Amino acid sequence: MRTIDLIQRKRNGEELAVEEIAWLVESYTRGEIPDYQMAAFLMAVYFQNMTDHEVGAMVEAMIASGERLDLSMIEGPKVDKHSTGGVGDKTSLIAGPLAAAAGVKVPMISGRALGHTGGTLDKLESIPGFRTDLTADEFRKQLSEVGFAVIGQSDTVTPADGKLYALRDATATVESTALIAASIMSKKLALTLDGLVLDVKVGTGAFMKRQVDARKLAQMMTTIARRADLRAQALITDMSQPLGFAIGNALEIMEVSQTLQNAGPSDLTRISLELAARMIHLGKLTTTIEEAREVAQKKLLDGSGYQKLKQMIQAQGGNPQVLDRFELLPNATGAMEITSPRGGFISAIDAEEIGLASGMIGAGRDAKEDSIDAAVGVVLEVKVGQKVDEGSVLCRIYFTNEERVTEAAERVEDAFRISAQAPEPRELILDVVG
Ligand code: URA
Repeated sequence: MRTIDLIQRKRNGEELAVEEIAWLVESYTRGEIPDYQMAAFLMAVYFQNMTDHEVGAMVEAMIASGERLDLSMIEGPKVDKHSTGGVGDKTSLIAGPLAAAAGVKVPMISGRALGHTGGTLDKLESIPGFRTDLTADEFRKQLSEVGFAVIGQSDTVTPADGKLYALRDATATVESTALIAASIMSKKLALTLDGLVLDVKVGTGAFMKRQVDARKLAQMMTTIARRADLRAQALITDMSQPLGFAIGNALEIMEVSQTLQNAGPSDLTRISLELAARMIHLGKLTTTIEEAREVAQKKLLDGSGYQKLKQMIQAQGGNPQVLDRFELLPNATGAMEITSPRGGFISAIDAEEIGLASGMIGAGRDAKEDSIDAAVGVVLEVKVGQKVDEGSVLCRIYFTNEERVTEAAERVEDAFRISAQAPEPRELILDVVG
């Protein structure tokens, strides 16, 4: 087989065979296909899409690039949660601990920042000492003892996703339904899970800008799960403005801490509680979703979700005190206020622009090998629907290096729309699939 032939056929809209996709993924993972050829293939997929058959083959090939992690010896229902990516989306670090506090075992394989969106692993690594490279045995042990463990793709678990994820991020090939579904589902099916809750984001800050595409992605992923005998449910949730107030790695850890102490933003709290309830229900710890909602709420109010996150941080080598003492997290050295040019109502906050501006000052990566500046980001002072006066602070940009702050500030300013009328309120949870 020759890579160039497969690129050409995909570019021309042909369907590739299972063995061809398997060969491509395996050879790329082993370093036998260069990045430039794989990037061309990904771009062909971006434009031509993949059939269900091809996506299934891609998922299998990506799982086969590493080992499957058997968790069947661990007692209790194993349920994971994964988001398709959004700006300010830190729900995994709230829903995960709440579900674990309720008795669900939460084995999470998370991702890094991708495109304009943040990644759970990067957020966790802003905690001094935190390790995301647990061995399979450490992961299992922590899951048994703490009930919540977070790792990333590695040399053993879906290494193909690790390589492809970074390549897609640097080649503008992230926003493909087929590639997103294959990336997420390969990580999830590499573990023996009992349930999976998917949060499919839609809106400017998501990869899916239209609800019909988000639905397609949700259906694709829940169908892959069903074929693999995995109970899965997808929520389609609004990402037309950033979730919560904080965008940026350490800043988001601070907001996670506040939210798990029931002092967080209402949109973030609401979605996280619903995701936790779905995890509890899929794990069959309650018979109805209403009961599961009550359990999730209780775990928030009694502080056990918050304690669970601390236990997880400690178990993974991090300092759990960061949740109480934010000065122990990386902190920015400068801040710039963005103020409203006139009075009125906030009618939109373009989440993609805010995500891109945060990336520009170091919260994300431009190239595969770039490092992240954990301290930087944006903290909103207002949300859509709020009334502001001329000169009111809309948000603050936190930075450590002045180089691109002016450019980022212009982007952030342009992200806010102010109108004379209050906008219609938008639903946060738009649909449930599966
Ligand atoms: N999350 C993933 O793990 N992969 C994607 O492609 C997008 C979001």
